[in-house]
Amino acid sequence: MNFAILTSGGDSPGMNASIRAFVRSMHYHGHTTYGIMRGYSGLIENDIAKLSPTDVGNIIQRGGTILKTSRSRDFLEKKVRLNAYKNLKRLKITGLCVIGGDGSYNGAHTLSKESGINVIGIPGTIDNDIKNTDYTIGHETAVQNAIDAIDKIRDTALSHDRVFFIEVMGKNSSALCQRIALCTGAEMSIDPKSDLPDEEIVKLIKRGQKRGKKSSIFIVAEHESPGRSYDIQKLMLLKHKINSHVCILGHIQRGGAPVAMDRYYATLMGARAAEYLAKKSKLTAAALVVKNSIVHTLPLHKCLVKVERHNAELSRLLTELSV
Ligand code: F6P
Repeated sequence: MNFAILTSGGDSPGMNASIRAFVRSMHYHGHTTYGIMRGYSGLIENDIAKLSPTDVGNIIQRGGTILKTSRSRDFLEKKVRLNAYKNLKRLKITGLCVIGGDGSYNGAHTLSKESGINVIGIPGTIDNDIKNTDYTIGHETAVQNAIDAIDKIRDTALSHDRVFFIEVMGKNSSALCQRIALCTGAEMSIDPKSDLPDEEIVKLIKRGQKRGKKSSIFIVAEHESPGRSYDIQKLMLLKHKINSHVCILGHIQRGGAPVAMDRYYATLMGARAAEYLAKKSKLTAAALVVKNSIVHTLPLHKCLVKVERHNAELSRLLTELSV
């Protein structure tokens, strides 16, 4: 039987480990895998090629995605989609694995309903914002990448007695900024949807200064688009006469070799996705999730929504520890 795999949305470290496991597991069960390039864009443009077990060698340690990715606007149009399905049918592809975030999952859900082709989603986004899963591929590496950068910034912040606002990715999810803040010993995590808490920031800076602390680090979630930290910096200067520096970590967080946890779950889920599709399960649209460290399968419709993942206990702990 023939199956296909694509990666869609923002790339996340570990996607390659999933692709490798999917292709090799399909091969083990005697099936053929096609790789669709650049997400739904490649599906529309028929940019599809067979993937052999050798094609996916030496990629488990590489960030990004060998299949490339995109955020396809064209796939939102029904006429375009119906044409794209013909490319799958021509190759007699009966099942598709989609690695990506909520946008990619919504595309997969529609595809399954309209084309009758089975789909399975693997959660791949550094934001860890997919409903009903504790984990998404790439999140751990992104946290580690940010920690590595912030540890370096801390050296210069200390040497110059500076206040730093360090902006991290995560869009509407607090998962990245809260975990990064906790792991770097930051004063506070300024979550995506919170108002800019300038009075609170000043209080924390002053509290630190009272006990001789002259540098402070605040982690800011980018929210809708990068640059939110500059608003805080301006507010601190104009309203409170406090000088500060801004560092936007940006795409550095998404790159580099995946850490162990991302390789581990990406591999487990890639293999599980292959087994699932090959079994011709009755559930036509499914998603893999991790709950309490175990990989499970859920109906895809249960995972279509983004979650904000604000953890009030983590916020409280940050304040408690950053005296
Ligand atoms: O994929 C998730 C993510 O990295 C978000 O954290 C971020 O807001 C967004 O993608 C950036 O997207 P792009 O690389 O398309 O600018």
